[in-house]
Amino acid sequence: MINVPKGTKDVLPSDSYKWQYVEGVAREQAKLYNFKEIRTPVFEHTELFLRGVGDTTDIVTKEMYTFKDKGDRSITLKPEGTAGVARSFVENGMAGGALPAKMYYIIPAFRYERPQAGRLREFHQFGVEVFGASGAETDAEVISLADSLLKKLGVQVRLYINSIGCPTCRKAYNEALKAYFAPHLDNLCYDCKTRYEKNPLRLLDCKEEECKKINAGAPSILDHLCPDCKAHFEKLKAYLKEAGIDYEINDRIVRGLDYYTRTVFEFVSTAIGAQGTVCGGGRYDGLIAQLGGGNVPGVGFAVGIERLLMLIEKNGDTIVEEKPTVYFVGMDEDCRKKAFSLCTALRAQGVWAEVDHMTRSVKAQFKYADKIGAKYVAVLGGNELEKGEVSVKAMATGETQSVAFAALNAFFQDK
Ligand code: HAM
Repeated sequence: MINVPKGTKDVLPSDSYKWQYVEGVAREQAKLYNFKEIRTPVFEHTELFLRGVGDTTDIVTKEMYTFKDKGDRSITLKPEGTAGVARSFVENGMAGGALPAKMYYIIPAFRYERPQAGRLREFHQFGVEVFGASGAETDAEVISLADSLLKKLGVQVRLYINSIGCPTCRKAYNEALKAYFAPHLDNLCYDCKTRYEKNPLRLLDCKEEECKKINAGAPSILDHLCPDCKAHFEKLKAYLKEAGIDYEINDRIVRGLDYYTRTVFEFVSTAIGAQGTVCGGGRYDGLIAQLGGGNVPGVGFAVGIERLLMLIEKNGDTIVEEKPTVYFVGMDEDCRKKAFSLCTALRAQGVWAEVDHMTRSVKAQFKYADKIGAKYVAVLGGNELEKGEVSVKAMATGETQSVAFAALNAFFQDK
C-alpha cells in the first residue's frame, strides 16, 4: 500500500462539507469587505521567496520544497501566499489600476516542518492582501475582516497586536537588541548566533527554551518606534477600539517572515495545543519595492484552515452537513428503470436526488437511504408504476403519501 506523504492529509468525502462551509463563509466575508479572489500558481521561482519572505527566516532556510525542473530552473512550492500575490501585483501592473487593490485567496501551502497536531507539510490558508493604502485604518480593516470571520465561525481566540517599526526605527532597535544579547551570546542556540549577526529581530522569535528565557528581558520595540510609526500604531489602536475589536498588545510578536513593517498581529487560541496561532498577518510596506514594483504599501493576513477546523471541532459539531432530499427505491427492474428516469428529471430541476446503483433488496435500499440521510424515500413498485405515482415517505415522521409522477417536481422543490 502506498501511504499519503508524511505531514499531508486527505480531505475525505465524509469531511469535505466542513471545508466547503469554512471556505464559503470566508468567501462571503471577503465579499462583504469588497475583496476579490486572486489565483496564482502553486509554484514560483525560488528567488521570489528569497527576496520576499527573507533569506534568514526559518521558512526560507529550512522549510521550502525547492527543486530543479527539467529546464534547470529552481522552483519552490509556495510556503505562503503573500509573495506570489505581490509578484502578480507587480507583473500585471496593478499599481496602475484602481487602488487600493483588495484580494483574497484560498491556497495549499508547503513547509517542510516537523509534523504535529496543527502543523503539517501541506496545509491550507485563507488569506487577504491590500495594496496601495498606507494608513492604519487599512490595518484595522484587515484585522476586522479576520475578526469577523473567526466570530462568524464561533471560535474563541485572542487578538495580539504589535508594531515592529520601519527600517529607520528598526535600525536603532536592532542595535539595542544586539547590546542586550551580547553578554548572552554563548548561551544562545546555534540559529540565534546567526540571527544575532544577520537579523537580530529574529532572536525574539526563537522557540528554544533557553533563548526564550533570555528574550524575556530584551528591550521592547515599542520603546524604540519613530514618531511616524508610533502615530501609526496609536491610530490602529484607536480604530480597533472604536470598532469594538478587543486586542492585547504583545511586544514579542515579530512574525516568522521578513517582509513586515509596522503593524503585526496574531489571533491565538489556547484550546488546540502548541500550534495555537490560527491567523497571522501585518503590514509590509517594502515588499513591492523589493520585488521591483515601486513604493506601494501593503497589508494582509492568512488563516490556517486546518487549525480553524480543529478549533471548530473543539466547539462540538457546529457545522451541519446537508443531506439528499429524496432517495428512490425500485422494486423490480422496470421500476428501477422508471425510478432512474424520475430521478434524472428531478435533478435537472435542481432537486438533490439519489437512486439505487447496487440492485439491492428493498429492505437494503431503505437501510442505505437512512445511511445517507435522505429526507424522503420514494418507493416505486408494480402498483405505483401502473398508476403513475410513487409512495413518498418522510423519514423524520414516517408519514407516507402518494405523489403522481407529474407532481414530483412541485412536491420536492421546497423540501
Ligand atoms: P504565517 O503566520 O506563516 O503567515 O501563516 C499564517 C497561518 O497559516 C498560521 O497562523 C497558521 O494558522 C497557518 N500555518 C502556518 N504554517 C502551518 C503549518 N505548517 N501547518 C498548518 N498550518 C500552518 C503567512 O503565511 C503570511 N503570508 C500571512 C500574511 C498575509 N501576512 C500578510 N499577508
